[in-house]
Amino acid sequence: MKARKEFLSIAIPDITDEEKKQVIECLDSGWISVGPKVREFESLFAEYHGVKHAVATSSCTTSLFIAAKVLGIGEGDYVIVPTITWQSTANIVEQLGATPIFCDVHRDTLNIKTDEIEQLMSMYGNKIKAIIPVHHSGLPADIDIIDNISKEYDVPVIYDAAHAVFSSYDNKMIGQFGTMSCFSFYATKNLTTGDGGIITTDSDELAEHCRIWSYHGLPKDSWRRYSSENASPHVQCIVPGYKFNLTDLQAALGIAQMSRRNELLEKRNELFRYYNTILADLDWLELPVHETDRGKWGNHVYVVKIVDDEIDRDKLMTELRKLNIGTNLHFYPVHKNVFYEQKYPDVKLETAEWLMDRILTIPLCTKYSKDDLDYVSEALRFVYDERLAHKNVMIN
Ligand SMILES: Cc1ncc(COP(=O)(O)O)c(C=O)c1O
Repeated sequence: MKARKEFLSIAIPDITDEEKKQVIECLDSGWISVGPKVREFESLFAEYHGVKHAVATSSCTTSLFIAAKVLGIGEGDYVIVPTITWQSTANIVEQLGATPIFCDVHRDTLNIKTDEIEQLMSMYGNKIKAIIPVHHSGLPADIDIIDNISKEYDVPVIYDAAHAVFSSYDNKMIGQFGTMSCFSFYATKNLTTGDGGIITTDSDELAEHCRIWSYHGLPKDSWRRYSSENASPHVQCIVPGYKFNLTDLQAALGIAQMSRRNELLEKRNELFRYYNTILADLDWLELPVHETDRGKWGNHVYVVKIVDDEIDRDKLMTELRKLNIGTNLHFYPVHKNVFYEQKYPDVKLETAEWLMDRILTIPLCTKYSKDDLDYVSEALRFVYDERLAHKNVMIN
């Protein structure tokens, strides 16, 4: 098979003239840091998700950190996190001096196992100060069960909704669930601001605390401080806050992306379904779950599982790379990362460890065409049929 000329990366941002126009207008406005564009973006996002507040930050990671911080998570506390996630879900718990308690995930949805959350809750009781489930690939976790656990044990839930900007559960947008939800606008996310994040919540108090902690600990942000109608140059911090805000430049990009949200979601869904069709006959791959009875997702990433034990996943990635296809892992279990494995060597999570060498993310983004996906399918077949990624190479 001949390698294509252009590298097909795992995903690239989808930026049109509308986004460029909005960013240039912002540059020309004389206000490029936190200001009116951030506020407008927050309002649009809150309205889209049907929630009272949205507090924009510099990333989903800083959103998660701030959300956990304002809940008072700290030294000696335990926080339940799934192990199949991006490291930041657990890292922020460590950064706050607390202990992440890793939980296994379901093989089909890659979402946290709620029966294990219940076991952990009854094992550790009120040492557990929060649960941070992830909506993997944007497919909602088992929200109903998690909410019941939250009520029964009076423990807050922060949903890591990094992948879930377009997701809904029981026809309600995902940002309405839990104590807070944290979203990512990283470059390749369903909706991008280059880098960025947002916290949604219905609580006035938590929203205000998130705002204060993410902006120097000041009770007023810089826009309200410097704009002519609110001139009040003298402000003092009321807590030792961080500098984790989004900027107007980023928000301008986000506002333009929001206006394209239906188009972006439809394209994603279309490509996702197309993969499901063209890969259906590959019996050595298990294809991802598209939706559950209650949850619809934004199809952030297309993660297959290699079910033929003869295939070496890493070799497959190398062979695909030779054919100019980028792949990735969503995710290598966090408890098997060097830092966590050294610190918590006794953690054993059966499904996650089964998935560890079998998951593979293949290219998906709204900039790609069905021809690009056909090429990925052809490459997978070629590598398999030629036995280029088999563990036991046959010698004639
Ligand atoms: C599940 C999950 N949580 C958190 C993050 C962190 O997002 P950010 O890059 O916006 O900090 C990511 C990033 O991809 C993620 O996939």
